[in-house]
Amino acid sequence: MTAADFNDRMLSLGLARVSEAAALACADLIGRGDEKAADQAAVNAMREQLNMLSIKGVVVIGEGERDEAPMLYIGEEVGTGDGPGVDIALDPLEGTTLTAKAMPNALTVIAMAPRGTLLHAPDVYMDKLAIGPGYPVDVVSLEMSPRERVEALAKAKGCKPSDITVCILERPRHQEMIADVRGTGAAIHMITDGDVAGVMHCAEPELTGIDMYMGAGGAPEGVLAASALKCMGGQMWGRLLFRNDDEKARAAKAGITDLNRIYSRDEMVTADVIIAATGVTDGSVVSGIKRRPGYVETETVLMRSKTGSLRRMIYRNPTR
Ligand code: FBP
Repeated sequence: MTAADFNDRMLSLGLARVSEAAALACADLIGRGDEKAADQAAVNAMREQLNMLSIKGVVVIGEGERDEAPMLYIGEEVGTGDGPGVDIALDPLEGTTLTAKAMPNALTVIAMAPRGTLLHAPDVYMDKLAIGPGYPVDVVSLEMSPRERVEALAKAKGCKPSDITVCILERPRHQEMIADVRGTGAAIHMITDGDVAGVMHCAEPELTGIDMYMGAGGAPEGVLAASALKCMGGQMWGRLLFRNDDEKARAAKAGITDLNRIYSRDEMVTADVIIAATGVTDGSVVSGIKRRPGYVETETVLMRSKTGSLRRMIYRNPTR
């Protein structure tokens, strides 16, 4: 397939509908304490809308391996089958617990790129590091200690380390990292879940107050975050983390041979990508679902890396 076959301009609007549908489907499950039901509703709706698109799509980042996820599993063919061959990365509900507890930053997200251009990341953890646009290439790296990253970023930004804010997932595995960052005087914006939004926050520091994201989270979410940053601007690196042989076998199945490789943003997403994300609960990047008399409203950000364009789309879905 040539790049011209991937008519991302037209396909992008269809993609927005897909993420909108997933968000609307779990609207009634926000704050209801049932993660599974919310996720299932989002999965069903996303799959139904996705299958209406004129694409020959393959899910490369999905709900899991075929034997554990009946829908939107890795390798599932999606779309009508009569369009361009594309890779699909999706998370029908990123932040299932955030949704169940009505906490900020839950969203639905889907990315599309020409076939064979999105990293087939297995369902393992990924060590992630991200910063926003405007910095020299490789100003920070995964090889640096957390302290060194903060100091290097502060130098590049022309400020003190104590003026830097780092976003980190609150997990026991990040205790040392948190202590090291705190040692520099930098602020930590702690999140309980949702590191796709966490990484996206780096792209708009003036809006979110976040300069850098670091820490281990899901590898599939890493590819989605890299897709978003490729559109919004910013640098990102990821290294897969393996806890046992089963996880290594998952990597082998996905065709990954170098288990220690550090992937840059453009090595995770090697061609132009389009991505749509719809807010479920309120966040700094995108607003959550609003119930109004007579309709439900969603906000979607729709981005294309080819042009760097970002659309914010408000959708009113009548409830009558
Ligand atoms: P879910 O929506 O599947 O619950 O994932 C939320 C999330 O917080 C991701 O954003 C993150 O990458 C991952 O879970 C972190 O995993 P863990 O909870 O195992 O630390």
